[in-house]
Amino acid sequence: MKKILVTGGCGYIGSHTIVDLVQNGFEVISVDDNSRSSIGILDGVEEIIGKRVKNYTVDLCNFDDTQAIFEENHDITGIIHFAAFKAVGESVEKPLMYFDNNLNSLINILRCAEEFHVPHFVFSSSCTVYGNPDSIPVTEETPFKPAESPYGSTKQMGEGIVKQTINSYPEMKAILLRYFNPVGAHPSGLIGEIPLGKPANLVPAITQTAIGKLPKMLVWGNDYDTRDGSCVRDYIHVCDIAHAHTLALNYLIEGRNEGNCDVFNLGTGNGNTVLEAIKVFEEVSGRKLNYGLAGRRPGDVVAIYANNEKAKSKLGWDPKYTLADMMRTAWAWEEKLANDK
Ligand code: WQD
Repeated sequence: MKKILVTGGCGYIGSHTIVDLVQNGFEVISVDDNSRSSIGILDGVEEIIGKRVKNYTVDLCNFDDTQAIFEENHDITGIIHFAAFKAVGESVEKPLMYFDNNLNSLINILRCAEEFHVPHFVFSSSCTVYGNPDSIPVTEETPFKPAESPYGSTKQMGEGIVKQTINSYPEMKAILLRYFNPVGAHPSGLIGEIPLGKPANLVPAITQTAIGKLPKMLVWGNDYDTRDGSCVRDYIHVCDIAHAHTLALNYLIEGRNEGNCDVFNLGTGNGNTVLEAIKVFEEVSGRKLNYGLAGRRPGDVVAIYANNEKAKSKLGWDPKYTLADMMRTAWAWEEKLANDK
């Protein structure tokens, strides 16, 4: 079995990707310092896949500790690098913490990949690299606009670091995956997103308000030039995102890559407004959401959604979950969290 190292394996997308990788025949090890995640998520992963995934509780900013993982595992075929801080608002308050963490961890994992001759590297990027695009949907060739936050800057810089590193290491091939808005939870209800503190992202804010953990949520801005005045996003189920990583690794392992660092948008290709997303949630949950309208959130992109034809044609990726599925699984997960309390 080919062994894959997943960094940030106890995180939201990382844990769902581990499930998909194992169910598609890969052996997986995880590295996650659990500073922003819970090791307990691997219990749910174990229930789904029937085996325990080993996690190395290591801070990737510590090179020696990171290197030790590779000294213990000489048979790593590929790396999927998720580990990073990802809160847009926090990155505005603490930019240097984001640059330090997100870039030094990436540099260390790339140094180890080169030293230990790991041939395949998948980098977790984001639609945030496009900034506020002039036209939508965005393709992989849409030029970057200035990032709206230090978080977005770390993804733009991260892509550049991977591309230029790979150019110097001919034995390594990479893929950059640009996620749009990952939402929802595994249909088993055994794993999902565990936001730390008050959720900044829309769907956890919706479900926590509906379950009563939050008294009310606010819609940030209803005066944008969109269908109903609220922002447009391309919400994509986390399991569709996870499966794209399995397909991306197979694309590299089978040598189908066209360049040494191919880029793919991971979105449904549909844009929904915030108010439309809330309406779908109310329909699938049967709950009336307590929300109010507020001013615009600084740094918000007005509208963005993906042209996903390249991932469909080259990776064979075919996202299958609808927005209703996303809301239904997110709500089921929130109800499970409440029952487990
Ligand atoms: C979506 C829309 C908000 C909360 C960011 C990153 C992206 C990814 C996901 C990591 C916006 C509105 C939200 C609320 C609201 N990060 N909203 N009330 O900002 O599009 O993307 O998070 O993977 O890389 O850029 O996601 O869910 O925060 O916001 O009205 O309580 O929901 O204003 O229009 P965003 P989001």
